[in-house]
Amino acid sequence: MNTQLSGPDLWERTVGEIAATLPGATAVFRKFKIDFCCNGDLTLDGAAHRRGVDPNELERALEALGTDTSGTAAPAAMDSDELINHIEACYHEAHRRALPELIALSRKVEAVHREHPKVPAGLSDALRQMQSELEQHMAKEEAILFPAMRQWGKGKFDIPISELRHEHDDQGTLLRLLESLTDDFATPDGACRSWQALYVGTAQFAEDLMEHIHLENNILFPRFAATESRA
Ligand SMILES: [Fe+2]
Ligand SMILES: [Fe+2]
Repeated sequence: MNTQLSGPDLWERTVGEIAATLPGATAVFRKFKIDFCCNGDLTLDGAAHRRGVDPNELERALEALGTDTSGTAAPAAMDSDELINHIEACYHEAHRRALPELIALSRKVEAVHREHPKVPAGLSDALRQMQSELEQHMAKEEAILFPAMRQWGKGKFDIPISELRHEHDDQGTLLRLLESLTDDFATPDGACRSWQALYVGTAQFAEDLMEHIHLENNILFPRFAATESRA
């Protein structure tokens, strides 16, 4: 596993691979608003250009993480069965817990503060759409994809992973919508407690969802890449 951070090839490595192998890199990418989950195939150079990030600053932030990959909890070190359990317990269940409350809170904030110039009009609709699409997506993974992966080696593996990747891209588009509706989750001065709780909770959901998609796109799915079509 390539964890070397200095040297000329750093900029040619993909952000998905760096996120998968360097503990803490996902937090750095989030800080610089580099999309490591749905656009994990971009090189670090390409991703930094796309975001207009200062390369020196980015390199320093990544180097400051060091190259210690010995942590036993690193998802890239888990076998596929453990990783699937981790994804289901830490992300699928977290989304199912978070979304109903966020939808209720956003409805309330949108109604109570409808005259406020910074009201996040449309946030509850966006969250409801994400809930409905995510529920179908996760159900497909839990009922079909993950059991097939757990059985890998015992039979034919012909699950259409590319379809699931497209659904991740759709969720990525909705994540960008959440960011723009909420000013990057920044509440206006004087926002009430519900509004603050809504943005804190939505920011956490967005962070969880990015990590969730990253674990599947960049770590779990490539293990089955021989049978995967990216069409
Ligand atoms: Fe999932
Ligand atoms: Fe997924």
